[in-house]
Amino acid sequence: MVTKPPEHEKISTVATKTNAELSLPLQIQLAILELEKIAGKSDSPHVVLVVELWDILYKHNTIKAWHSLLVAYYAKKIDEFYKSGLNTDDIFLAGLLHDIGQVKTPVTILDKAGKLSISEYLRVKTHVQDGKDMLKEKGLNNYTIEEAIGGHHENWDGSGYPNKYKEEQTSYVGRLFKIADQFEAMHNLAGYTSRKYQKEPFSLEETLLYIKTNMGTHFDPGFTSALAEFENWYINTFESNHKA
Ligand SMILES: [Fe+2]
Ligand SMILES: [Fe+2]
Repeated sequence: MVTKPPEHEKISTVATKTNAELSLPLQIQLAILELEKIAGKSDSPHVVLVVELWDILYKHNTIKAWHSLLVAYYAKKIDEFYKSGLNTDDIFLAGLLHDIGQVKTPVTILDKAGKLSISEYLRVKTHVQDGKDMLKEKGLNNYTIEEAIGGHHENWDGSGYPNKYKEEQTSYVGRLFKIADQFEAMHNLAGYTSRKYQKEPFSLEETLLYIKTNMGTHFDPGFTSALAEFENWYINTFESNHKA
């Protein structure tokens, strides 16, 4: 049974506990392993700073930090199937920070059960600009992270935010994160929030149907075959375990 993840623990603390102690879903366990692998490969100031910033989000709102970790993990996977040729470790690190601006969003709004008011929704939307500002404040100058932050709420048809960019006006990285973010928010994060909000998460089938139905409106249809490969990988990796 999946239980709520621990609050306000550093990733180093999380990593030293056994999976049984944490009772984390397999998705998060594997994403933590991926993070440790990438962080362990390099002691570059860039990687250290990215993980430090993610840890600030972890302390601010644990669920949003787990969401970012899973988005990182899924975006890296989708990119591997897409074969963009970008550095997939960079994609993962960008995923950790795609919502970093939410450290400036009040927890009362992030944790609010039910529908947000219009003013609360407008406040949430500022997390994109807040994230870009944070990168500048921290001296973090990185194309992949900037595009993940700036592009993950833009829609293929120009109906997204903050710039209402259409089609390839949003970079590949932004369009990739649009899909990974949607997938995680509907299918897995809902798994945590369901206990708090007392509603059921979307199933894998419902989540993928939503994304497929909105290819060409919200999502870049160029990801169709990468998403199909991702779906197979996801079912083989996670769904078979759930059934066992
Ligand atoms: Fe976001
Ligand atoms: Fe997100």
